[in-house]
Amino acid sequence: MDQETQKIIAAHLRKPEGETGMEVAYYMNEGNAGMNRFAISKLTPETNHKVLEIGMGNGYFAKEVLEKIPFGFYTGFDYSATMVRAAEELNKDKVGEGRMRFLEGKAANMPFDDGSFEWVFTSNTIYFWEEPAKELKEIKRVLKPGGTLLLAMRPEETMNNIPLTKYGFHIRTKETVHNMLQMGGFTEIKTEEFSEEKEDANGSPAQLKTMVFNCKA
Ligand SMILES: C[S@@+](CC[C@H](N)C(=O)[O-])C[C@H]1O[C@@H](n2cnc3c(N)ncnc32)[C@H](O)[C@@H]1O
Repeated sequence: MDQETQKIIAAHLRKPEGETGMEVAYYMNEGNAGMNRFAISKLTPETNHKVLEIGMGNGYFAKEVLEKIPFGFYTGFDYSATMVRAAEELNKDKVGEGRMRFLEGKAANMPFDDGSFEWVFTSNTIYFWEEPAKELKEIKRVLKPGGTLLLAMRPEETMNNIPLTKYGFHIRTKETVHNMLQMGGFTEIKTEEFSEEKEDANGSPAQLKTMVFNCKA
């Protein structure tokens, strides 16, 4: 893949927009399926809990989250208007039933009252946060005291093997993210790891790792 194409895809991974953004989002669903499903398997809400997903992209995994909260409510939040519309379309049955909503905005400034959610889930978003302390503070604010943050990311060794991450991604180590969470006042920080074999950009087999941080507000 040439450098210009890498830059374009990297920009749409950061914020998928328009037709190209829609296409990139479908590739993301495929590429991140194992990771998202591993992270969702670590969501253990009570059946009536409210879950916020930040950066849900086109909302492909939202119904899998909703299945865990049959009497609860799912909110998807993303700063891409294209993704908010796509997620609404993909999940229009559940939105129509009043079980889900999708809202547009930035994670550093969310339109939710303090303590609105028992769970916040976010996957593959921390790379795009310039100063994660701001987003983490906001996540802590919207979580109920004792609520849980599940944050999934690819660790440094995986990200460094993906050439397009040199265009605008902040690659963060396990230790860095652990410290950020601690500084942000999160407690009981645990990490769980998952590894899968996928093809890299050249079609060669590569190990893709996932790290899920699980911590309390
Ligand atoms: C790489 S995609 C990940 C999509 C999906 N979570 C996954 O793991 O496949 C990142 C998503 O997060 C959104 N996003 C990134 N930074 C954000 C921010 N600061 N506030 C809100 N949404 C953000 C982007 O618009 C995009 O839809």
